[in-house]
Amino acid sequence: MQELKDKIKQYGTVLPGNVLKVDAFLNHQVDPELMYHVGQEFAKHFAGRGITKIWTVESSGIAPAVMTGLAMHLPVIFARKHKSLTLNSDMYTADVYSYTKKTTNRISISKKYVDQNDKVLLIDDFLANGQAVEGMMEIADQAGIEVAGAGIVITKTFQPGANELRDKGVEVYSLAKVKSLDNGQVTFDTDD
Ligand code: G4P
Ligand code: NA
Ligand code: NA
Repeated sequence: MQELKDKIKQYGTVLPGNVLKVDAFLNHQVDPELMYHVGQEFAKHFAGRGITKIWTVESSGIAPAVMTGLAMHLPVIFARKHKSLTLNSDMYTADVYSYTKKTTNRISISKKYVDQNDKVLLIDDFLANGQAVEGMMEIADQAGIEVAGAGIVITKTFQPGANELRDKGVEVYSLAKVKSLDNGQVTFDTDD
């Protein structure tokens, strides 16, 4: 998605540890027009597949997920994050380890908002090691429902998440694929 890559080039900065900072339009300040186009792009790609709901994880996945829900006329559920939680039988839960932050969060989705015939589209802002998407897949598995695929705003293809998800049979559709952040430079895959 050229508009997104242009924003990354213009506003993105590279931090130590292969982190791409995009606080100017995605992770802190949000560019609603760009997010609207992101939602339309995901909606176009995943149209006609019988998707019933959009799932994401709070907090940075919410903006692109809501815009996708708007474009597809579908409800959006964001998994809640907690440091630790007493077991609650009304929730599906999965543990998500963050390699970047070296912490484990338990994510949860209320059973109240999951139907047996759901087919969910997973949306997230970044795909790096794939732990957030895998956590949502674990919840879908527990609920016995189908995952239609994953729509990712920015995928770091030099980290293992995207390939690991594809190996598990999940379609990953990324709007910007970053193949390197070496020397403070953002390099995109040529095929996106
Ligand atoms: P992953 O396995 O889910 O792919 O992510 P990882 O543990 O590597 O990273 C943990 C958090 O850092 C995630 O956000 C993820 O989206 C974010 N992240 C990973 N790489 C980058 C990057 O290069 N740039 C930015 N800006 N973020 C990155 P989170 O903890 O779920 O936080 P949030 O959704 O509340 O922002
Ligand atoms: Na995220
Ligand atoms: Na994030």
